[in-house]
Amino acid sequence: MSVTIPRACVMGHPVAHSRSPMVHGHWLKTLGLPGTYELADVPEAEFPRFLTSLRARGYAGGNITVPHKEAAFRTVDRRDDAAEAIGAVNTVWYEDDQLVGGNSDAYGFIAHLAASLPAWDESTRRCVVLGAGGAARAIAFALVARGVDVAVVNRTFARARDVAMHFARASAHAWDELPGLLARADLLVNATSLGMTGKPALAIDLAPLRRDAIVYEIVYVPLETALLRDARSRGHRTVDGLGMLLHQAVPGFARWFGVTPTVTPELRALIEADIRAKSGSV
Ligand code: ATR
Repeated sequence: MSVTIPRACVMGHPVAHSRSPMVHGHWLKTLGLPGTYELADVPEAEFPRFLTSLRARGYAGGNITVPHKEAAFRTVDRRDDAAEAIGAVNTVWYEDDQLVGGNSDAYGFIAHLAASLPAWDESTRRCVVLGAGGAARAIAFALVARGVDVAVVNRTFARARDVAMHFARASAHAWDELPGLLARADLLVNATSLGMTGKPALAIDLAPLRRDAIVYEIVYVPLETALLRDARSRGHRTVDGLGMLLHQAVPGFARWFGVTPTVTPELRALIEADIRAKSGSV
């Protein structure tokens, strides 16, 4: 009798920089499970065909990254509620003969927040989300589902409006409304790419934010952004982006390999070391 070893992969283009193989490889090794997690560099023109033949290629499923998340949304047979609301698919698996597309960013955002600050939801009623891309949309979805009012603030107002119109408790705002919004916020999330290595800094004044407000940064390269440093020095509780990345990997692993893995300090240290090594001096 032949034994099939479950295989999964991350599909992107380019994809060599992805840290997903390191995360899933660590879990496979420490849990002692048979399985592999591979890189699949798939050009855009080939992606739909690649995805629809995933099982024939020997895969139980996989992750989808830039630039394929919207194409995956259109190509799968069925989508979970999160993917449906967010408009992008980052995790796929099979249920019977159907290829199902999910989005684990919302889960990862909340799971990391709850792991870092278990009582976060007792005091969080109003949130300001900076940005209006896929990450902002996932975060708005996650927070609105937990009864939090979300103010979406974006440089391009029309994109903020596009996000807000999808969610009952969300509103759209221009950047110059930020001071007034911050004064009423329990949680501030940076879901823009500002502060990322190679991008401009996120230049906002945290002074109006109440001291007991939480500041959540989704950028994780560098590990500590100016926003996190500033927030810490002002006495805010902070939550960083690396944890969200690690937690969002959990649901996919559980689907493909049958065991729910844990985000441990050991895993975190492994990925932190990789980020430090690749960013040179940091
Ligand atoms: P993702 O889907 O990964 O979240 P994205 O769609 O590229 O990424 O979104 C990046 C976010 O960072 C957007 O909200 C973008 O604002 P715009 O919608 O106005 O483009 C924001 N962003 C990027 N560079 C910025 C800058 N220099 N100033 C202000 N916002 C910026």
